[in-house]
Amino acid sequence: METTFDMGGIPRTLELKRDERGVLLEYIDQRKLPDELVFVETRDWMQVVDAIKTLAVRGAPAIGVAGAAALAVYAGNGGTREGFDGMAERVAEARPTAVNLRWAVDRARRHVEGAEWADVPEMLYALVIEMEEEDERTNRTMGAWGAELLGSGARVLTHCNAGSLATCYYGTALGVVYRAAELGKVARVFADETRPVGQGARLTVWELSRAGIPTTLICDNMAAALMAKGEVDAVIVGADRIARNGDFANKIGTYGLAVNAREHGIPFYVAAPVSTIDASTASGDEIVIEQRDASEVLPRPIEGVDVWNPAFDVTPARFVTKFITEKGVHDPDDLPVG
Ligand code: MRU
Repeated sequence: METTFDMGGIPRTLELKRDERGVLLEYIDQRKLPDELVFVETRDWMQVVDAIKTLAVRGAPAIGVAGAAALAVYAGNGGTREGFDGMAERVAEARPTAVNLRWAVDRARRHVEGAEWADVPEMLYALVIEMEEEDERTNRTMGAWGAELLGSGARVLTHCNAGSLATCYYGTALGVVYRAAELGKVARVFADETRPVGQGARLTVWELSRAGIPTTLICDNMAAALMAKGEVDAVIVGADRIARNGDFANKIGTYGLAVNAREHGIPFYVAAPVSTIDASTASGDEIVIEQRDASEVLPRPIEGVDVWNPAFDVTPARFVTKFITEKGVHDPDDLPVG
């Protein structure tokens, strides 16, 4: 049965705005969730870079649009043509793994190539607004494709936050859940806590509870036991970069989930826009994995103890049942590579 599904409780992740003083980006500071819902406004492109690096804005599609927005903020507040390329490069390099960031910054640069500098602020502003709308459209289309893969009463396990907060609105993996919930198909979502930063524990459960979806939070090391008990019908995750051969990078812990899902005969789906597929990356071996600060894992250092803290891992294509993009549902060896 189709129900009216209320996304109203989840605010937009980021929005480019303008007033008489220039262009500003408003974003949710995701570091403060779930304790506080804080909206930040900035007219400073360097603050946008900082927000991306510190995970105030995070999730592959969201950092892509935020990156393009940084260029619009620069141009719309007195930035110069001379400084443009250098600043754009610094934005694109803010985080290395999610290809969406480089993709969006390059798209914005190409969009204004050869234009009069006087026209650039307006052109970039309009482009970012278009990207925000396109992101939501893409996610809703992906959600509709993905929802068809789920049976009624589905119990879905997800990792990290590939929800509305990881995009401008609606989400990728959780977009599938939202559409399936609208169709009355979702019995429960199990959210992995997602150590060390806790995107599942802090963000996914926050947005699922706002959306009124029955949610159970589990620690990452509980997923295999849950699968063994027969409690999981499907695993759905997002992606930060998909190589040509279908290997993909996503939040650390995804690979282990995929192996466990295979062992237990549970379908493993990856929902991501076509912009996450990187035609220039042949296989997962070529994906640069971001290493983050040791303090995320060990807040108080212990003498003689080192920390390994990769933000992402690579799951080989053979563990993926289907990829879901805005173009449809694909086998790993039949991706819509542009
Ligand atoms: O480090 P984060 O929080 O940016 O990592 C995010 C993820 O790994 C998501 O699963 C991925 O970006 C897909 S989001 C639609």
